[in-house]
Amino acid sequence: MNIKEAFKTKIEKESPNVNIFPISTSFDKEGRLVVGGCLLSDLASRYETPLYVLDEDTLRASCRAYKTSLDKYYPGESLPIYASKANSSLFMTKFVTSEGFGIDVVSEGELLTALKGGAIGKRIVFHGNNKSLKELELAIENDVTIIIDNQLDIERLINISSYRKSQINLMVRFTPGIECHTHEYIKTGSIDSKFGFNLIDLEKLFIDLKSYPLLNLIGLHAHIGSQIFETEPHNDLVKIMIDVFSLGRELGHDLKDLNVGGGLGVKYTNEDTPPTIQSWIKVISNSIVETCKNKNMNLPRLMCEPGRSIVATSGITLYQLGSQKDILGLKRYLSVDGGMSDNPRPITYQSSYSACLADQPLEESINEYTIAGKHCESGDILLKKIELPEFKRDEILVVFGTGAYNYSMSSNYNRIPKPAAVLVKNKLSELIQRRERPEELLKFDLIPDRFLA
Ligand code: LLP
Repeated sequence: MNIKEAFKTKIEKESPNVNIFPISTSFDKEGRLVVGGCLLSDLASRYETPLYVLDEDTLRASCRAYKTSLDKYYPGESLPIYASKANSSLFMTKFVTSEGFGIDVVSEGELLTALKGGAIGKRIVFHGNNKSLKELELAIENDVTIIIDNQLDIERLINISSYRKSQINLMVRFTPGIECHTHEYIKTGSIDSKFGFNLIDLEKLFIDLKSYPLLNLIGLHAHIGSQIFETEPHNDLVKIMIDVFSLGRELGHDLKDLNVGGGLGVKYTNEDTPPTIQSWIKVISNSIVETCKNKNMNLPRLMCEPGRSIVATSGITLYQLGSQKDILGLKRYLSVDGGMSDNPRPITYQSSYSACLADQPLEESINEYTIAGKHCESGDILLKKIELPEFKRDEILVVFGTGAYNYSMSSNYNRIPKPAAVLVKNKLSELIQRRERPEELLKFDLIPDRFLA
């Protein structure tokens, strides 16, 4: 199925992760693409390209899908937490917190973004396999829950609690030994993962932690990977987690929170078949309820940490088409004005995307192209194969599904400034990130005095 056929399929508004397009996608009278009521080619002229665009309706529907599914399927307390690594900004913090989400952060920068964006410390969790003392201090000062990942975290927390003389809330991250089918780099739950405590070390850890009354263990965390299309691994995960949960309680910890991480996949191309948000939450909820019932245990507070499935399909990137290189009988390269600096996923994970021309999405294709970025790197290819109709110079190409792990993983490779980002809704477009200027990229450069003579 090509992109034109995908346009004919019904957009699933209740679970935006299963669509390639933002849920507000429509066409104007001339058949040109419109998102959030804004003509995409107009956005490109107004804000220049490359341009990240976020559709507010899709974002809101994604957040609501998590909230309503948790309310519907989980009879205990719950808290969805947005994994801000997917797309961290003041706007994203404001938005997801206003939808009742907590925030997951993994660095001082993400923590500052969460705090300045208005998240309250009690609803922030701090992750990471090598947190610095400074990061831990900032988190603790702000009442953030620390997800301990290793022995060094514990040593540092013991140290901090001794001079702060106040209790620190923490959760333990462990590797459950669960395999799921996703890219090797984004798998985290298997036993050779760099993250978290080993399952077999947890009993000793629980016993040791009892010696430190200021370290208040309130929950467990595990995250098994990202862009997962099956629900079975999370069903298994919950069972393992509840076993560990009851062990922790037996060893005297007042555990309340069970954080199952994120990982739900999204549809980048027609080949992707992610489950809906509703079915993911349902499987997890049912699994917890059933396992707790069998063990005669009170229900924990259920936390989950979606990142990609909140923001990926609300995002698109607009590029302007540029130079062409035809290699007779082999390939037609078509270059755009961005590439691996604004979207490093294809070169990093061989990720595939869907794309079309903004002003002629439904036009009959005539040729196949390879869409290349403008970076000095042969591997800087955004789409390996795409069929396009005849196009005019400078037309706008829309790449779908770029809301997650694009801006947040972007770089200034080749000293290319980062694009602007706009939010669209009901014909309104508002900047949420302004475009970097090339001269700003020089501001951290220093030349030692002796070279200035
Ligand atoms: N919680 C933890 C502890 C995580 O490490 C992650 C993602 C999440 C939650 C959110 O997972 P999600 O719902 O987004 O799958 N850069 C890669 C993805 C790396 C994911 C890292 N951890 C990519 O572009 O595919």
